[in-house]
Amino acid sequence: MICAAMLAGGIGSRLKQNKPKQFVNINDKPILVHSIETFLNVKKIDKIIVSSPKVCIGKTKELMDEYFPKNDKIIVIEGGSTRNGTILNSIKYMKDQNCEKDSILVTHDASRIFVSEKLIEDSIKYAIEVGAASAVISATDVIFESREEGKLNDIPLRKYLYHAQTPQSFNIDKFLEIYGDLSEDEIAKLDEAMMLFYLRNADVKLFPGNRNNFKITHPFDITLAETILKN
Ligand code: CTP
Repeated sequence: MICAAMLAGGIGSRLKQNKPKQFVNINDKPILVHSIETFLNVKKIDKIIVSSPKVCIGKTKELMDEYFPKNDKIIVIEGGSTRNGTILNSIKYMKDQNCEKDSILVTHDASRIFVSEKLIEDSIKYAIEVGAASAVISATDVIFESREEGKLNDIPLRKYLYHAQTPQSFNIDKFLEIYGDLSEDEIAKLDEAMMLFYLRNADVKLFPGNRNNFKITHPFDITLAETILKN
């Protein structure tokens, strides 16, 4: 089984809108709908598991009925309290469906609306081959590490630095095996899925993402996304 976890279990505070960011319109269509449309084009994906904060489940279901009526590929579940909690809920859904061993979960930030079918397919291919895979782009700016406001602590060499994007895909049995071996402290560090594989030295394939696959996070990103869609 190959499923997509459409991560929309958070609210998104940096966008500074009066509603959770997955419901913000970009050229008259909600962010969440843009991303799901591309995933629906990838035929090898069996289910798209759309997560939602508990308080927004009704609204998320209404949106799915409006844009994708009677589409039995899409299901809505409750997100977790953290991003990884949401991913765990998506894995639980797959296990509840009795998915076969070595099933693959493709995780995607709903707010990366310019994801392409190629990125999704590449992530699936590498997750099958290697176990876990993430789209990345090389860092353009030099990145300073600052652990205290205004203080420079480190300047990691730019040529070794990459920005992680989604899709990030992985074998769910490998994920659960490592998860079961982590200490509580390690679990607290998990703010993204690839960290879990990294913590146990499991291979993660980094493959080329795309600069336009940015996450709509700040108000400027809405303007940028609308401009791209108009051209
Ligand atoms: N996410 C989730 N469940 C959570 C927290 C986050 O599914 N408990 C999802 C978000 O909905 C988002 C993605 O994970 O699609 C990336 O989350 P993150 O980078 O933490 O936050 P942002 O969406 O960038 O929002 P913010 O401005 O609050 O940082």
